[in-house]
Amino acid sequence: MNTLTFPILITNFKTYESSTGVKALELAKLHEEIAREYNVNFAVCPQAVDIWMVASEIEIPVLAHHFDAVTHGQFTGHIIPEALKLAGADGSLLNHAERKIPFPQIAESIKRAREVGFFTVVCAGNIEEGMKIATLKPDAIALELPELIGGDISISTSSPDIIKQAVHKIKGVPVLVGAGVKNGNDIRIALELGARGVLVAS
Ligand code: G3P
Repeated sequence: MNTLTFPILITNFKTYESSTGVKALELAKLHEEIAREYNVNFAVCPQAVDIWMVASEIEIPVLAHHFDAVTHGQFTGHIIPEALKLAGADGSLLNHAERKIPFPQIAESIKRAREVGFFTVVCAGNIEEGMKIATLKPDAIALELPELIGGDISISTSSPDIIKQAVHKIKGVPVLVGAGVKNGNDIRIALELGARGVLVAS
């Protein structure tokens, strides 16, 4: 069972064709190789259906995209943290901009995650949301400005002040940043401003 080690780079595989099925495994193995070679902390975040295959073959942390705040029982169609953990996931993202959930559900999900020994990286679309989520004490908060996700402009170069403020105002929980992060310079800026890691995809 892995925990989060900072500074960390988490790659969200989303539902891109290039990171689905056997390609998810290839991409995850590449992350592991690079993490070993450069002695850096990488984690991968494949689709739920690919977790078992990926987690069986690699040792770096594996996160799910999302899970539901329910448990074993009559919950057809739900994804429970117990099942993700048995499949080899170490934790999960929650509340990603592409999979938002209401605040009470975030609270219940973090509680459920603690019950099963699962870490949570909860996304926030702005500093205020991040501050509110920080009261729930997830393992990390990932600040992603929704309008920059998938684009060519990074949060690091376009909004360094937001990173600085986020790190200052979101207390007691490591802050990661993401959205448009593309290269070493974006990562360097984020870390220099106090972020504990980045979340990347495209
Ligand atoms: O979860 C990470 C993601 O939303 C950032 O996406 O494509 O801007 O790196 P991207």
